Formats: sequence, structure tokens, C-alpha cells
Amino acid sequence: MATVELHINTRKVNIDVDPDMPLLWAIRDFVGLTGTKYGCGIGQCGACTVHLDGNAIRSCSVPVSVVGSQKITTIEGLSEKGDHPLQLAWQQEDVPQCGYCQAGQIMNAAALLRGNARPTDSEITTAMSGNLCRCGTYQRIHKAIKTAST
Ligand code: FES
Repeated sequence: MATVELHINTRKVNIDVDPDMPLLWAIRDFVGLTGTKYGCGIGQCGACTVHLDGNAIRSCSVPVSVVGSQKITTIEGLSEKGDHPLQLAWQQEDVPQCGYCQAGQIMNAAALLRGNARPTDSEITTAMSGNLCRCGTYQRIHKAIKTAST
């Protein structure tokens, strides 16, 4: 066990954990932010996507010990009032079906737009190709990213 300080959204949180524990468990079970979802647990689906210093990472595959002082942003911290352009576009385009993967989708899309404010269709397709959706909302996700970036 070790005490790890996490800088998560606007908070600094100290938790006593196994340093090899995946960040996803820290976020959900120790900090109590459950917007980030567990899908596959092996880095294959993208449901657990959060940002580390603005870059999208799969929190199920990052040990909590390697986070250090990097700023973790979860879906709860993406915007103050749920009004990030992607969150508004997600509502406008009525994207979710079951909703389970959508936090990860939005966080990955937010990282894309942070580095590329006007992505082309193929750039969106490439960037989002690793985020799986069992309901098949891919076309609406794509459209919402276009809406948010225009
Ligand atoms: Fe992390 Fe699937 S739960 S990639």
C-alpha cells in the first residue's frame, strides 16, 4: 500500500492504495466519480477514457502510481455546468442510446478537438476508431463532433 495524491478535476485527493491498481479503480471506487466506466478492463474499448494533462488515456490500463502530478480530468470535470461544446452537441444530436460508452467517447473527442479544432471526417474517424459502442451510435457521435467543431 502507498499514499498517492491525485489531482483530479478541481480537487487534490490522497488515497491509500496498491500502487499497481489501475487509475480507473481509484477514480470510481476511491474518489467516487462514477461517470468514467469500466468496459473491458484491458484497454480495448475506450469506455474508461479520461485525460491526463489533456491527453486521452485509458484509465483501466494506467497504474495509479504513474500518474504523479499530472492533472486528471474526468467527464465530471470536463466543464463546469455540462456545457462543453461537445456535451451541447451530444444533446443536440441526441447521440446516446444506452449511454454506457458515451463519457469515454466525449473525453476522447475532447482530446481530439483540443489538438485539432477543425478535424476532417477522416481525422474524426481515425481518432474515434478505438472507442467502441455496442449500440452503434457511431454516425451520431461523428455528427456531434462535427457540430461541436464548426
Ligand atoms: Fe478501459 Fe475498456 S475499460 S479500454
